[in-house]
Amino acid sequence: MRTVIANWKMNPETVEEAKRIFSGIKRISTNLKRTQVVVAPPTLFAPLFVKAQHKKLVVAAQDTWYEQKGSFTGQISPTMLVDAGVSSTIIGHSERRALGETNELIQKKVIAALKAGLGVTLCIGETTRDADGSYFNGIRTQLASALTGLPRVALAQLVIAYEPVWAIGAIEPMNTHDIHSMMIFIKKTLGDIFTKDVAKTIPIVYGGSVFAENAAEIIEKGGVQGLLVGRESLTNGFLDLLKIVDAVK
Ligand code: PGA
Repeated sequence: MRTVIANWKMNPETVEEAKRIFSGIKRISTNLKRTQVVVAPPTLFAPLFVKAQHKKLVVAAQDTWYEQKGSFTGQISPTMLVDAGVSSTIIGHSERRALGETNELIQKKVIAALKAGLGVTLCIGETTRDADGSYFNGIRTQLASALTGLPRVALAQLVIAYEPVWAIGAIEPMNTHDIHSMMIFIKKTLGDIFTKDVAKTIPIVYGGSVFAENAAEIIEKGGVQGLLVGRESLTNGFLDLLKIVDAVK
């Protein structure tokens, strides 16, 4: 099964527009054969859509917190998301890391979310690429720190989203050759953290300037199990993207 995650970020501005965008995705989702679409709207809008969920259409949050309740003004806990019918959450998106989220905070969130029964899409990615390849160490650290202490049973609920930060909101995605090498590196690192067999079962998706026009190539040549889509997920192009991804053999 492939996974395509629609990260709406802080869009759209109105309930009406959110409903319009969601209804298009819902319509396409019923015909998907090998693709699950995960829609991550602003959390305030999520309850509008949870009843529409089915095997191929899942509603997610874009972030959560590491305690289930308490004095944390402005936060929404994993338990609250589960109780409101939300199925999973993104954690560690680069736009949250840019606001100051550390690997340590991200690890606490991952554990709390999985414990509450939420699926987790853990975002990782380097901010820049240096010629000596030291960004590989950064990726290893992001993975190792976020995934330490996870209960094995929870791993079935985990997706890794590799998003090179410099390719997010850009014109072009990373080239498929480099995506492919990074997929091998991430699998190997997951194998070191858990075991090779466990690593094989954890899906890895790519994100960063994915559009309908480049989605098939990334799936075919990048060796990824899915995509994380920002801007395009708010447009009609996303409906084409879903059909294209689902048609790739
Ligand atoms: P983009 O965003 O598709 O607009 O580049 C991707 C992301 O931030 O997840």
